[in-house]
Amino acid sequence: MARIRRWGVIVAALVGGIAAMQPHAQMPAPAPMRDLTWGKLNFLQTTDTHGWLGGHLTEPSYSADWGDYVSLAHHMRKQADERGVDLLLVDAGDRIEGNGLYDGSNPKGLYLYDIYRQQDIDIICTGNHELYKSWAIQDEHRYTVPNYQNNYIASNLDYINITTGKQEPMAPRYRKFKTKNQGLEILAFGFLFNFSENNKTLSVVQRVEETVKEPWFQDAIREDPDVFVVNGHVGVEMSEFNNTIYKAIRDVNPTTPIVFLGGHVHLRNATMYDERAIAVASGRYFETIGWVSLDGPLKKDEVPSPQPRDAGKITFSRRYIDTNLLGFYHHTGLNGEAFETERGRNTSNMIAHARNNMRLEELYGCAPQSYWMTRFPYGHKNNLYTLLANKILPYVAYDEQRVDIPRLVLINTGAMRFDIFKGRFTRDSMFNVSPFPNKFRYIPNMPYKTAKFIFDVLLSWESYFTDQRPYLMMLGIPTCELNIRRETFIAPKDVLKLASRSVGQARLSGYGEPEIVEGHTTVDGLGNDGDDTLHWSYDYHTQPAVVKTEMGVTEGEEPETIDFVFIDFMKGPLSQVFKRLNTTYTEADMLPYGTELLDVMVHKWVKENWSQEC
Ligand SMILES: *[C@@H]1O[C@H](CO)[C@@H](O)[C@H](O)[C@H]1NC(C)=O
Ligand SMILES: *[C@@H]1O[C@H](CO)[C@@H](O)[C@H](O)[C@H]1NC(C)=O
Ligand SMILES: *[C@@H]1O[C@H](CO)[C@@H](O)[C@H](O)[C@H]1NC(C)=O
Ligand SMILES: *[C@@H]1O[C@H](CO)[C@@H](O)[C@H](O)[C@H]1NC(C)=O
Ligand SMILES: *[C@@H]1O[C@H](CO)[C@@H](O)[C@H](O)[C@H]1NC(C)=O
Ligand SMILES: *[C@@H]1O[C@H](CO)[C@@H](O)[C@H](O)[C@H]1NC(C)=O
Ligand SMILES: *[C@@H]1O[C@H](CO)[C@@H](O)[C@H](O)[C@H]1NC(C)=O
Ligand SMILES: *[C@@H]1O[C@H](CO)[C@@H](O)[C@H](O)[C@H]1NC(C)=O
Ligand SMILES: [Zn+2]
Repeated sequence: MARIRRWGVIVAALVGGIAAMQPHAQMPAPAPMRDLTWGKLNFLQTTDTHGWLGGHLTEPSYSADWGDYVSLAHHMRKQADERGVDLLLVDAGDRIEGNGLYDGSNPKGLYLYDIYRQQDIDIICTGNHELYKSWAIQDEHRYTVPNYQNNYIASNLDYINITTGKQEPMAPRYRKFKTKNQGLEILAFGFLFNFSENNKTLSVVQRVEETVKEPWFQDAIREDPDVFVVNGHVGVEMSEFNNTIYKAIRDVNPTTPIVFLGGHVHLRNATMYDERAIAVASGRYFETIGWVSLDGPLKKDEVPSPQPRDAGKITFSRRYIDTNLLGFYHHTGLNGEAFETERGRNTSNMIAHARNNMRLEELYGCAPQSYWMTRFPYGHKNNLYTLLANKILPYVAYDEQRVDIPRLVLINTGAMRFDIFKGRFTRDSMFNVSPFPNKFRYIPNMPYKTAKFIFDVLLSWESYFTDQRPYLMMLGIPTCELNIRRETFIAPKDVLKLASRSVGQARLSGYGEPEIVEGHTTVDGLGNDGDDTLHWSYDYHTQPAVVKTEMGVTEGEEPETIDFVFIDFMKGPLSQVFKRLNTTYTEADMLPYGTELLDVMVHKWVKENWSQEC
């Protein structure tokens, strides 16, 4: 790619050549690093990548792409061979939905499956996102399952062929194999949490507590492998893992090491269920590649049996690797051209080609500054929802037939999914910020007082309804997105200082003192030294569930009635609220407002208001 090369030239003076990444991606940020601890058995883990295989083009700490990961894995496998140890790659699902690389084509995912398969993955399973839409389930069955053949594992998931009506396992229930270098016997499962909103015409998810009773499972856990690996689209703090599966295996295997590799909750977290069972989850959106290692006597015959407690101590280690190309260089000891493999480069090219075909780089405008979802309080000029309510909504919630009628416009904060970064705002950014196809609706001539009251109720529904209403919780930023922020803002700055002193910071060679930049500062169940990169923590502020703007309403002169405007997504929650408040409004009163989709209107707004160069 000519463009990639050009970046290479620009930074040649700095690092001796940065290759790969996507054209337009931000230069990676150097940072103080913690090294990886190798053991006899090592894992690289991805989960909840949600289409972000092009990397985070606007975030220097996470701007490596899937091709760079292909190169990284290649070198790590080679290192494993040289050390005489083993390395396994795992992926825990939710590979689709949430980024233009998947959502931007018609049909969706036209390019994603081929790009994904460029990475050899040893143990791969399904997330809930693969199972909502009929086409997504069929694509998963048609592409990902055969792409990964025996490595795809579906311990509690069946596929239903709609033509023949036949129900069969999505893929094998488990996999038993020997590792390449030490011949360790691994028995691997691939689970999905107790998910029930799947399309039941095409898939069946068995509840985990049922699966562990199945004869095949009971037989499998008696096969006496050296190590159990439970790959799962399950949070490490969820009882499917920590209770049901863990107990089932442990009951029969009192000392066998168990590695749980989880996901779903979109955060970096790790814990030990006992001193021979670790559980690790590695975040979301291809910001993080997890590293887990086990050392000690792993082979059954290395341990004099039966000596449960002193059977030989196993040590575990975990790291969360930022998807930062300079970090990859650090962990492999390789640079630029030496780091980039042909297959990695080809993969980066495939991504660039797909992004190009989908016009993801199409420039809509240039954001004059960054706007954050949670790093600033609502009302602050750097807050995304302040921008939305004060500047964008008045212009995008617009109906030509009713421009002269005062309106109150509501939008739920969950409708926005990602920060806006200073600089290029592209078709890609639009997918990241708001991936949902929403139109506006309205209730005409609602008494102004009622409209204001409804807004108040949505803002603080907990004080109106004592029961926790899931349909109202849906309005705010999804808890899984809040979790990641919680995980990242916990670490106080003194912890960071302490950590940086105690690890004896390795420096990326060729740099002066790297500056510490904002990013993940994880405190997980095992401590605060998990991140491979030292960062300052982000600030975090809770956001309201909804924000509003009022047009044509002047202070002191309240109108009698108003157009009550909101997005499609809020139809359900609002009708529930109307019912609870005993108002007469129903879904039948919610009429289309304007003709365009929200994202089409935002596109127009960006074009007209952010037209400066960048
Ligand atoms: C589930 O898939 C079937 C078969 O494609 C489709 O007809 C149906 O509409 C889907 N149901 C839902 C709820 O998406
Ligand atoms: C259903 O099964 C038939 C016969 O094996 C096969 O040809 C077809 O591709 C399958 N359809 C789907 C959607 O999996
Ligand atoms: C991380 O996992 C531990 C152990 O299961 C749990 O107690 C903790 O709540 C989790 N952290 C977050 C932020 O969810
Ligand atoms: C296991 O999960 C349950 C429910 O999610 C939680 O209450 C409990 O604290 C967890 N236990 C551990 C050891 O993480
Ligand atoms: C799975 O879901 C069922 C309800 O469908 C619940 O009763 C059960 O406790 C769940 N199991 C786990 C392991 O969370
Ligand atoms: C990379 O792409 C080139 C050109 O399409 C092809 O000839 C080559 O075989 C590919 N190499 C790998 C390792 O995939
Ligand atoms: C709505 O009506 C029900 C039944 O008449 C009553 O119990 C409830 O208190 C009313 N709710 C409100 C908010 O007025
Ligand atoms: C954005 O552009 C529109 C159309 O040109 C204009 O009416 C509006 O005032 C602009 N908004 C801002 C906040 O500049
Ligand atoms: Zn996910």
